[in-house]
Amino acid sequence: MLDIHSHILPGVDDGSKSMEMTKNILSRYVEEGISAVMCTPHQSAQLRRSAVLRERFALFKEEVSSYPVDFYLGSEIYYYDGMLADLKSGELLTLNDTSYVLVEFSTRAELANIPDAVYELSLAGYKPIVAHVERYDYLEKSSYEEIISNGGMLQVNSSSFGKKEHLGLLKRLLKRDMISFIASDAHSDGRRNVDFSAARKFIAKKFPALVQKFFGDNNIFASQT
Ligand SMILES: [Fe+2]
Repeated sequence: MLDIHSHILPGVDDGSKSMEMTKNILSRYVEEGISAVMCTPHQSAQLRRSAVLRERFALFKEEVSSYPVDFYLGSEIYYYDGMLADLKSGELLTLNDTSYVLVEFSTRAELANIPDAVYELSLAGYKPIVAHVERYDYLEKSSYEEIISNGGMLQVNSSSFGKKEHLGLLKRLLKRDMISFIASDAHSDGRRNVDFSAARKFIAKKFPALVQKFFGDNNIFASQT
């Protein structure tokens, strides 16, 4: 299984603070049987530093080479006007240098038009994955479909399966098989550690036909290394 959203690259954002913390998180990955992790540090209009992230990732990979996990570098980009231009110029990272991009949005409706942004990115040849789509409570029922028909994919956080307020939406999206990835969005070895238990339990009980899709061989980047 691939975890497509994780802040384990140490010391570069609000995620893992140190290599020690990252190693603690990695032992959770091993316990969960997760064999591939996309490192997705935050990028935004103010914080791009792709060259630095590439350097840090190269050093990181050497330090964790003994773990039975494949690591990839990507990022989680906070959408902004001009994001597309910065993607094209290489100032922002895509996922493992493919056309996939992990993109997050404001939680304030007036600052984000997710379906339009997805359309803009898709039209330019990118494959946008909307990070933790359950967080944008201003989205209307039809918006999720619009995101997908505009060329986007939906990612939800594993921790949201343990939160009652998200279960209605998650169920509705799962029923129509609209979610592409369940990811940890891990930030620390504490409260925001890797934990797929609630998600695994929920999917196994309510949507057993989707267990393989989310927790089986879902590594779309495997052939690209
Ligand atoms: Fe994140």
